[in-house]
Amino acid sequence: MTPKGPTPRPGILDVAPYVGGESALPGMTRVVKLSSNENAFGPSPKAMEAYTLCAPQIHRYPDGGCVSLRRALAETWKLDSDRIVCGAGSDELIVLLARAYLGPGDEALYSEHEFSMYPIATTTAGARAIKVKETNLTADVGLLLAAVTPATKIVFLANPNNPTGTYLPAAEVRRLRDLLPATALLILDAAYAEFVTHPDYTSGAELVEPDGNVVMLRTFSKIYGLGGLRLGWAYCPAAVADVLNRMRGPFNVSSAAQAAGAAALADTTFTAKVRAHVETWREWTGAEARKLGLEVTPGVGNFVLIHFPRAPGGARRPDQGPGAGNAAGSLGLGASAPGRDAAAADAFLKSRGVIARRMERYGIGQALRVTIGREDEMRAFMAALADFVKRG
Ligand SMILES: Cc1ncc(COP(=O)(O)O)c(C=O)c1O
Repeated sequence: MTPKGPTPRPGILDVAPYVGGESALPGMTRVVKLSSNENAFGPSPKAMEAYTLCAPQIHRYPDGGCVSLRRALAETWKLDSDRIVCGAGSDELIVLLARAYLGPGDEALYSEHEFSMYPIATTTAGARAIKVKETNLTADVGLLLAAVTPATKIVFLANPNNPTGTYLPAAEVRRLRDLLPATALLILDAAYAEFVTHPDYTSGAELVEPDGNVVMLRTFSKIYGLGGLRLGWAYCPAAVADVLNRMRGPFNVSSAAQAAGAAALADTTFTAKVRAHVETWREWTGAEARKLGLEVTPGVGNFVLIHFPRAPGGARRPDQGPGAGNAAGSLGLGASAPGRDAAAADAFLKSRGVIARRMERYGIGQALRVTIGREDEMRAFMAALADFVKRG
């Protein structure tokens, strides 16, 4: 039956809706949820307090300009508050940027294993979403630049990237900025920036010039643990901030999100604790998985990407770097053994109450992405993984 009413604009019905990480398992009351890169410790106690204090005022509309939150962000990161725009998660800002700058005939580029909101935002804006090959599961500036055409209006770069966890050093990000035509916007999505301690990393804030073509996106969903409140922000050239402010809903960020966000930002003791925990347990998880013969992509976010041998055949992944080898084959994870792959590992983990993220939708089918949880959660995950591997 043909539905009544108008048809949606071109592109909208071409996308598969976003699928988030699973959070429940049938018949299990307690699960270890490591599927959505959430914060191992929950929100900061100060953010929770600020949230609670909002309750008697939630009949009032929020400050539509997020003035005090933007001021706090500007002070913390030494930015111009007039060029900060807050959104209901950085997802909202990604969609608004795509709607603002993309339409039929335009192209947006992003690297091969991308955060899936980029193609969703691009395609629903009516533009072409162009995937560009990575090298060793890392964005490749040369290949991105080679893919630029006169139709390219946006280049999305998640740095660090989700789901690979890899990052481009500051010099490469700058090279991309320098060589990109001024007719394209470079959107640096630094959702995981607060986890990165490498000296050669930059979130890209210093590349956002008042009259430039670089936008940086940040979120409160990761190190600040406020994913459920929906809060993100963009640092923009003045003209882009103006465009976003015209397009966004007048009250797109709730009063509770603004209050909790400001409190979370100020709670640097909490963020330092989370950062240190993630670093320690990310290294531990990687090392333990490697001891089991599994390959782990060295990532810098609050998650790890663990690879399983392809079943059957154990062939190298096309993106497998030289020397990565197939160590799993020598350690009982028979390289050609059917049922020993990522899908089997996921099923086994679930039978033990552990939920990781399957990667088929991201084009890395023989991997699972595992968020760094609390110590007890990581130990439960690793015990289950070890049983899966050793079960033979
Ligand atoms: C790279 C990247 N960008 C943006 C987001 C979305 O963040 P938010 O919760 O602020 O919408 C995520 C969430 O997983 C992400 O991984």
